Amino acid sequence: FKLTTVEEMEAATNRLLETGAKVGADAWQIRVKNQTPHCKFGEQGICCRICAMGPCRITPKAPRGICGCDAHGIVGRNYLKFTAGGAATHSDHGREICHTLYAADPNGAYKVKDPEKLIRIAKEWGVETEGKDIYDLAHEMAELALMEYGKPFGVQRWLKRAPEHTQKLWHDAEIEPRAIDREVAASLHMTHMGCSSKPEALVRQSLRAGLADGWGGSMCGTEFSDVLFGTPKPIDTEANLGVMNAENVNIVVHGHDPSLSEMVCEYADDPEMIAYAKSMGAKGITVSGVCCTSNEVAMRRGIPMAGNFLQQENVVLTGACEAIVVDVQCIFPALGPLSKCFHTKFITTSPIAQMPDSDYIRFDVGTAAEKAKQIVMTACENFKNRKPDLVYIPDMKQKATVGYSLEALVKVLDGVTNSQVDVTGTTKPLLECVTSGVIRGAVAMVGCNNPKIRPDYAHIEMMKKLIANDIVVVASGCSAQAAAKAGLMDKSAKDLCGAGLKRVCELADIPPVLHMGSCVDISRMMILVSELAKDSGLKISQLPVVGCAPEWMSEKAVSIGNYVVATGIDTFLGVDPYVSGSSEMGEWLTNGVRDWVEAAYTVETDIDKLCDLMIERIEEKRTAIGI
Ligand code: SF4
Ligand code: FE2
Repeated sequence: FKLTTVEEMEAATNRLLETGAKVGADAWQIRVKNQTPHCKFGEQGICCRICAMGPCRITPKAPRGICGCDAHGIVGRNYLKFTAGGAATHSDHGREICHTLYAADPNGAYKVKDPEKLIRIAKEWGVETEGKDIYDLAHEMAELALMEYGKPFGVQRWLKRAPEHTQKLWHDAEIEPRAIDREVAASLHMTHMGCSSKPEALVRQSLRAGLADGWGGSMCGTEFSDVLFGTPKPIDTEANLGVMNAENVNIVVHGHDPSLSEMVCEYADDPEMIAYAKSMGAKGITVSGVCCTSNEVAMRRGIPMAGNFLQQENVVLTGACEAIVVDVQCIFPALGPLSKCFHTKFITTSPIAQMPDSDYIRFDVGTAAEKAKQIVMTACENFKNRKPDLVYIPDMKQKATVGYSLEALVKVLDGVTNSQVDVTGTTKPLLECVTSGVIRGAVAMVGCNNPKIRPDYAHIEMMKKLIANDIVVVASGCSAQAAAKAGLMDKSAKDLCGAGLKRVCELADIPPVLHMGSCVDISRMMILVSELAKDSGLKISQLPVVGCAPEWMSEKAVSIGNYVVATGIDTFLGVDPYVSGSSEMGEWLTNGVRDWVEAAYTVETDIDKLCDLMIERIEEKRTAIGI
């Protein structure tokens, strides 16, 4: 067993960029150079353009904008707007899933694949389930969930899943999220010219909007995706560009919403479609994925992962991609012009993400089957347009076992200890491992890639160090894909662990880095820590658990960071969220919020140091509770 190194991945990328140069393609590596150095005002968060008296920039000579707002107010407003963008995005994804659930039909494209989970959630929400048709229940629950976005009174239903202590903290700090859309709208109201400029108020609302995401919209996304498409269970797959097959029609799904990718996978597997691919001269059809939509179909169907965020151009550069089919979020507009340098069809499908130089095949729940079929056929027909001399697929892939939803995790860990009957189905076996010191703690590794950090390097190097120190890693999003590409989700990676974690991996038959899903699935991690707290009688903030996004880049990531911190988990960032221009904002985020939610941020751009700080924090937490 050997890990794939970042150097090897970079060599493969360089080889692909040579193909790109041959056909005159642009690439993010080139655009980063063109954009460097970045605007200093933007970097520090001290540029304001929210009214037409500006734009105003803060300098020693001009310490206030025309309205009189200082650097702290400007940085604070920018931070809250950034959060609101992320919360809106995840939550709207969740809303789409609720609409898909509302359209579920035993004779239609979308079915209820996990009725037990639906009934469990219905009972949690106090909905009568006895004697009810499962589809009637699905529609009733979908409508109730959609109401969470705009209800005039009350707070999010999912909050009840948190330990009582956490709920009290939220209540006392006045950050319990109300209707999801209301928190986004209130954020935009607060950041309008002439509203809030007090960092404390802006940070408080940032936490609240984040919670509306993680304990609202994202949780809807995760839970109802499981109801519709099945709750993930451990499943074997493969990762990295080598999963593409030169002899097959290659369809790459990219984006976030599984409603589209599920249907594409369904049709790509259809004998009629495979025969169609063969009639076009291919041997078959290979679907692989990029970004979170890839995580979704990998976790539920074992569909291989071609790569993560900064690898999206690479799949086209292989010259072997018949179609890259996208839904929403994290899609480079660059794919339009890039696909024109090859035979690749760049297929956009959502009114939310429309781009120049793409073929727009509008996808919606009503016409899902027909559109998915059209997409697969379009890809097959494009096979004959391939230019063989441009085809180069790096021979690089690793095995991965993915699909560790909370339900699956609890189940596999039951095997770790000779646990008595009364602890099965709980997190107690995991707690036993942690309290005995066999596992020192856990790190939730999440988030994107960002050219500011050597891509994947931070994810992979930190994970290697953590598992060597007997710290188990749960991962999601592009971080999970970095791990899978490197081989850290291969069960053989247990050999890289310390003796304690290695033993746990052997007993439970798991890899040391556990794939918990897509970015909305960070809500799974919130439920996991809540269960750990309840089962141990500790506060979430006392658990030897931290969160980390070393290479993050999107607004969504800041929204996530806010709800992870607000849930009581110290969060470590490798990229500064444009707040360095305000000492007050820095103080609130890295310290002040601790008084409200018992956790805070640490920002450190030196990745080695960041990792050491996390290990230190985990050990401090262990000492504090005497384990
Ligand atoms: Fe300038 Fe104030 Fe307008 Fe911002 S809100 S652009 S700081 S005048
Ligand atoms: Fe994502």
